[in-house]
Amino acid sequence: MNNNRADKLVDYPFNKLRILLDGLSPPADLQPLKLSIGEPKHFPVQLIRSLDEHQESWSNYPSLDGTPKFREAVSNWCQRRFGLSGSLLSEPRTILPVAGTREALFLFAQAVVPQPSVPQPDFGEGALPPLVVIPNPYYAGYPGAAIMAGAEPLFLTGAGKRNSLPDLSSLSPETLNRVCLAYICSPSNPVGEAASLEYLIETIKIARKHNIVLAIDECSIDLYNYDPVPSGLQACESLGEGLDNVVVFQSLSKRSSAAGLRSGAVIGDPKLLQKFWNVRCFGGATVPEPVLAASADLWNDDIHVAETRAEIALRFDLAEEILNGRFEYYRPDAGFFLWLNVGDGERAAKLLWEEAGIEVMPGSFLARDLGEGNPCQEFIRIALVHKPNVVEDALYRIVEIL
Ligand SMILES: Cc1ncc(COP(=O)(O)O)c(C=O)c1O
Repeated sequence: MNNNRADKLVDYPFNKLRILLDGLSPPADLQPLKLSIGEPKHFPVQLIRSLDEHQESWSNYPSLDGTPKFREAVSNWCQRRFGLSGSLLSEPRTILPVAGTREALFLFAQAVVPQPSVPQPDFGEGALPPLVVIPNPYYAGYPGAAIMAGAEPLFLTGAGKRNSLPDLSSLSPETLNRVCLAYICSPSNPVGEAASLEYLIETIKIARKHNIVLAIDECSIDLYNYDPVPSGLQACESLGEGLDNVVVFQSLSKRSSAAGLRSGAVIGDPKLLQKFWNVRCFGGATVPEPVLAASADLWNDDIHVAETRAEIALRFDLAEEILNGRFEYYRPDAGFFLWLNVGDGERAAKLLWEEAGIEVMPGSFLARDLGEGNPCQEFIRIALVHKPNVVEDALYRIVEIL
């Protein structure tokens, strides 16, 4: 006997990409270039002296709650960045450190998806499983989290000009009553769309009415390309009714180019974070104290983030010039991904790998076919994270080949 839910976790995009490119060789004279993964590369080395300064605490088991200095740094960032009053975040357990948001987004579903009182395999025989709303296209972590928590993913193409924000108002009251959790991603991956404050307010109102938990993934919120992207926390403040039903996920992986540090923060409804905390006591990686200290320094500094935004802008300027309107190019509200319509994303990914050693992500690996064909089949996602001369060279080759 073993867990049949794990057998359903078969469509992790990077595994699919490996299979797609398996057996194809890049040109022998070219150094392969990975543009498939979202790793900004402007790590502010000078800001993490704290890793060394806290060497003695490598021998301590870290606390799940982190340190007061870490929580204060995150709280101050929220107040500076989103104009929040300190009182919204004043209750204990409204801010928790996490070892990256990928793991946190996964474990959060395990903490909040209800389980039936009578054990039955996958809720069979009559009882309908709870639903977890997932945007389509989506960040890869959400469907796996829903499935392992025993829920049924409900993929929802939605509101917004790029259809990446689930429109809860499009669901019937009966369906909404079955939804226990909705993942919202803003700015969204892969299309870089930012939720407006109005959208967030309306979505929170519906969630509260139907007792739905909102997990708002804001891991690239500071990498905006136009106006600062609003947070679900701002929407809560505007509504004036506290943080009920809302938890936001923040990460240093994008803001501070620190994907290897494994450091993020989860902020929101303390009742939900208490459940999350309970689950993490047993199965959560805690954040080491030197990493918490370095993370606090990063949350306290906005200058390096402004520099990263300027670096990203440079790369979009290059893309704008080189692509010159091809492939439905647009500069997204936020983030560092190009999302290009190349006709057939999988074919293009194979071609770019074989002819130029460039690895890109086919859009179809980031979305579900809901019966009318995969909505992202025509697209590829390209991370603009390398040095400008590398990006420039890669884009010229992409135009030439496609
Ligand atoms: C939308 C989104 N959410 C969450 C994550 C996870 O980031 P991390 O675990 O590094 O915080 C990523 C990483 O690519 C992402 O793109």
